Amino acid sequence: MDSNEWIKKLGDIAEAFKSFSESNVDITFLEERFVGKRGELTLLLRELGSFKPEEKKLLGAKGNELKNKIVSFCESKKNLFSGFKEYHYDIDITLPSKKYNQSNLHPITITLNRIIDIFQKLGFSIEWGPLVEEDYYNFEALNFSPDHPARDMQDTFYLDLKDDKNKNYLLRTHTSPVQIRSMLKYKPPLRIISPGKVFRSEAIDSTHSFVFNQIEGFYVDKNVSMADLKWTLESFMKDFFGSSAKIRFSPSYFPFVEPGAQAEVSCVFCGGTDKSCRVCHGSGWIEMLGAGVMHPNVLKNCGYDPNEFSGFAFGAGIERFAMLLLGIDDLRVLYENDLRVLRQIF
Ligand code: DAH
Repeated sequence: MDSNEWIKKLGDIAEAFKSFSESNVDITFLEERFVGKRGELTLLLRELGSFKPEEKKLLGAKGNELKNKIVSFCESKKNLFSGFKEYHYDIDITLPSKKYNQSNLHPITITLNRIIDIFQKLGFSIEWGPLVEEDYYNFEALNFSPDHPARDMQDTFYLDLKDDKNKNYLLRTHTSPVQIRSMLKYKPPLRIISPGKVFRSEAIDSTHSFVFNQIEGFYVDKNVSMADLKWTLESFMKDFFGSSAKIRFSPSYFPFVEPGAQAEVSCVFCGGTDKSCRVCHGSGWIEMLGAGVMHPNVLKNCGYDPNEFSGFAFGAGIERFAMLLLGIDDLRVLYENDLRVLRQIF
């Protein structure tokens, strides 16, 4: 072996030691492998016998440097654990371990995390809005004028609270006000999702609750169209429900979009073949969300020129996704927090 080969071998050993030392490897093993009697480094150092004195000196210094490093690493690790030795006999390692009351993420959080992951892959970022919202952001800036009948679509908890500017407050009825807040805060292009709780004055039954979760999504830039909306939602649904999921739009009305649409996803359970399907009743389609192209008034209310910018928006209930994902047919299961149920869901 010449000195170049020797140096290369030393380099390989240093590399191997580095990766072992970073893993949780047994120290005795490490010591034997590198600096033990027949250790890799020991044998390599032994080869030095056949080199010329000046080479031997140079290579020997490098080799010993690594050896010292390995030895002191092993010693320091051994010292770290040596304190345990005297207690060693007091521990009965055959005893069964304590049963911890282990928790896990709530099904709604699990569902939301999945939704967020997918939209992040599509380039959306997250914004959060306040739960106590101004009437202006919840309704007015979204093109619901004060006496507009569309306000009745959302049974609202108004708050008996006025500030010095005489603003009206309410518990937000949807996540759409985050569209306004974000457009005022940032400049386009904007690609944002905004999840969170919303409130409506409703009685609770298997599909309704006075508090539930929504996710809003919107994209504002030049030349954003219904086609972008459709592509985005379809990509999302395929990722969430599987690649065979399809979506279809039908016209719908929301004051802040024009055109407005309702999006349905193809039934992931029966594909429309089973009349007794509990989810789609054989229709093959499941109502999932509201969406549309941003109304020019909404853009104007945020100081954007509707001739220059356009956008799409959508809003969906997270519970609906959770119920489909987990095969739950009563929303209340998600709120009762019965541990026997929650522990079944991971
Ligand atoms: N905010 C609406 C609701 O809660 C849902 C919605 C519909 C959101 C259409 C949107 C949209 O962004 O474009 O009923």
